[in-house]
Amino acid sequence: MTSDLAVEAHGLVKEFGDVKALNGIDLVVPRGQVVGLLGPNGSGKTTTVRILATLLKATAGTAKVAGFDVVKQADEVRRSIGLTGQYAAVDEFLTGRENLAMFGGLFHLDKNYVAARAEELLEKFDLTDAANRPAKTYSGGMRRRLDLAASLIGKPGILFLDEPTTGLDPRSRIGLWNVITELVAEGTTVLLTTQYLDEADQLADDIVVIDHGKVIAHGTSSELKDQIGGDRLEITLENTDQASAAISALAPIVSGEATLDGSRYSAPVSGGSPVLIDAVRALDSQHIGVADIGLRRPTLDDVFLTLTGHGAEDDQRPEPAKSRRGRRGGGRR
Ligand SMILES: Nc1ncnc2c1ncn2[C@@H]1O[C@H](COP(=O)(O)OP(=O)(O)OP(=O)(O)O)[C@@H](O)[C@H]1O
Ligand SMILES: [Mg+2]
Repeated sequence: MTSDLAVEAHGLVKEFGDVKALNGIDLVVPRGQVVGLLGPNGSGKTTTVRILATLLKATAGTAKVAGFDVVKQADEVRRSIGLTGQYAAVDEFLTGRENLAMFGGLFHLDKNYVAARAEELLEKFDLTDAANRPAKTYSGGMRRRLDLAASLIGKPGILFLDEPTTGLDPRSRIGLWNVITELVAEGTTVLLTTQYLDEADQLADDIVVIDHGKVIAHGTSSELKDQIGGDRLEITLENTDQASAAISALAPIVSGEATLDGSRYSAPVSGGSPVLIDAVRALDSQHIGVADIGLRRPTLDDVFLTLTGHGAEDDQRPEPAKSRRGRRGGGRR
């Protein structure tokens, strides 16, 4: 494998009849990095991953994974990747251990190797105690861990994770984040799709934001936040009567128009935390009392809202896991 790019896709288009799922996606994942593909429902995340994993053919465009063409060298691509799909692929009636053996079989791996690797993965994913129970008795978090373990049976250098934590409780999500972070520390390259901004923020070196099958922004979490402006200075005044005095006192410090909502003052600033000290000094010299003061960095939610005009999680978060996970992806591997 000569390429230092784990994934390189150009102009991916995918049409399903009249539906244009992808409308020219460019995507690069450098080796050893985590790239987050962030987008709302129906934006084309799964379609992109399925094309890269050779499960679906693009209508137009090209893609290489591990240096291999996804169409002409599909077998080589499959041998280089692991995939955990959006819908769990574990067999409910097999035990955890049997599931791992089954996936080893699908990859035509040596039985002794698979048996040893399965023990290693069960241990790593904290499933040893449950290894002899059918997967249908597993909790959602355990199933996701088993699913991820299954995709790692062949020690792939490149891992595609399609919404790995959707439907999990906060504790299980953090557990899975830790596992992913460990894999990356060991040298695995990860392309992760998510609709959770905190997940992209937490895990991804680089974030590609897509909407309606198009890339609408790209950069590190910090770069994306900078795109929509710097920090905001937010102050709660002790006394609302001093609002106009505060606005005058702070005018030389802030970089744009201030807003007031009762005793709450807010204005854009640049230059980071030293601004706080300047602000406290300016207010103090005018004897203006402060109940609370702080700098607020825009969140990725602010970024997403600004870019797309709607939140990434508009209609997701409260949705029960059942309706999202009850279906199967079909022909996942
Ligand atoms: N097999 C298919 N036939 C017809 N349309 C499809 C098919 N697969 C996907 N689509 C459409 O393509 C678009 C992108 O779907 P995709 O599943 O890639 O989105 P997604 O970003 O993964 O969404 P979600 O967050 O809900 O998983 C959607 O409009 C979807 O309805
Ligand atoms: Mg999807």
